Amino acid sequence: MSAQTVCVIGSGYVGLTTAACFAHLGHDVVCTDIDADRVRRLKAGECPILEQGLDNLLREGLAGGRLRFTHDNKEAAGAEFIYLCVPTPQGDDGSADLSYIESAAREIGPVLTADSVVINKSTVPVGSTLVVERALGRSDVHVVSNPEFLREGSAVHDFLNPDRIVIGAEDQSAAVRVASLYLGIAAPLIVTDPASAETIKYAANAFLATKISFVNAIAAVCEAVGADMNDVVLGMGYDKRIGHEFLKPGPGWGGSCFPKDSRALVKIADNAGYEFDLLKGVITVNTEQFDRVAARAVDMVGGSVDGVTIAVWGLTFKARTDDLRDSPALEIISRLRAGGATITAFDPSMPDGKVDDHKRSALEGIDVVDSPYAACEGAAALLVLTEWDEFRWLDFDKVGELLAAKRVIDGRNLLDRESLRRRGFAYAGIGRV
Ligand SMILES: NC(=O)c1ccc[n+]([C@@H]2O[C@H](COP(=O)([O-])OP(=O)(O)OC[C@H]3O[C@@H](n4cnc5c(N)ncnc54)[C@H](O)[C@@H]3O)[C@@H](O)[C@H]2O)c1
Repeated sequence: MSAQTVCVIGSGYVGLTTAACFAHLGHDVVCTDIDADRVRRLKAGECPILEQGLDNLLREGLAGGRLRFTHDNKEAAGAEFIYLCVPTPQGDDGSADLSYIESAAREIGPVLTADSVVINKSTVPVGSTLVVERALGRSDVHVVSNPEFLREGSAVHDFLNPDRIVIGAEDQSAAVRVASLYLGIAAPLIVTDPASAETIKYAANAFLATKISFVNAIAAVCEAVGADMNDVVLGMGYDKRIGHEFLKPGPGWGGSCFPKDSRALVKIADNAGYEFDLLKGVITVNTEQFDRVAARAVDMVGGSVDGVTIAVWGLTFKARTDDLRDSPALEIISRLRAGGATITAFDPSMPDGKVDDHKRSALEGIDVVDSPYAACEGAAALLVLTEWDEFRWLDFDKVGELLAAKRVIDGRNLLDRESLRRRGFAYAGIGRV
């Protein structure tokens, strides 16, 4: 495969993974960010995010000279391909805020080489290729959509082993050129128009959010009728049309994508004249799930958490990431704190209990400690909110001794209910009593 020159604008979860993986595939990659401290750390080979395998690819790319970092977006000048991987947060009215995309495009527009290809990897609403074209102010470069489907926690694996690669382009030759970047990756390739590519990304995220909200709603039914949700999902999942993936009840969905992308899709549909009531319901069920899990903890300790200490295991929005953005754990904790609870928490992404400066505001008022056992000391109940595998293998005799009362609310149905009950714990899971 011949090496291509790629510039990746934005070195966050998606940008850094894209840059490191393209360098791994043999391309010549420069990755930019406006965050000077992040660029400094990356240049020194320090991976600023927790993502399995990413630190190795970073060091490999730097050592091989195929990956470098800069804060200057104008270095896009020499690249044949320019990936936009900047944030698209939720705007005030629920729609995606494209200001980061537009500002990056305005900055690089004047320096781009003719016939280069600018690619939206950020999640952007239908019509965004036109927004980028306008902001670039260039009629001699191509704008293509190439949405990203990686999952945090397995980002490198997902990038290098995708379920599919989607490219949306008006110009077929530009699509073929973008596809050539992925030579060496075996995956179905879908080449379509930009609007369809953009819609595929939102539809996929909305469907996954729907699957989780559906399962959480069934869990509520299970609790009401006395069924066991774990057995119900097992029985459902063996149906090949349903499948076991993403069929686990929990504290609700969160993270940096599902909440903003589901609201953005409601808005996209609304703007186009379609009331997406189904997706609105999915969002409502999710908010109710935060309430329901918090209420289970309140019930477990006798009806009020005022003045009560609750131990929490897991703060990140899912396991194997350090990402706290829109974490269900934080939603549930904020409800308990509003009821007067004190929270002592442990998360494996902060093993020494130290909170980075950029996470401090998200964790304000939470006492983050350096071990799962320390979190339990004197607490009235233990609440499990992120599915870190290591929580399953702890010494629950010791946990029972440390807690003021042997009570567990298992927000992920992660722990062994029978073994806990044998040890004298009161146990409440999601969709199982
Ligand atoms: N995180 C995911 O799992 C995921 C998966 C698929 C798609 N996406 C989408 O990808 C996009 C990026 O998400 P992310 O999670 O990587 O965000 P992020 O916040 O982790 O990273 C974005 C980076 O862009 C930088 N940045 C902002 N403006 C810039 C500019 N003008 N020039 C250079 N750098 C700039 C920021 O400093 C930040 O480091 C979003 O649209 C998101 O919806 C995210």
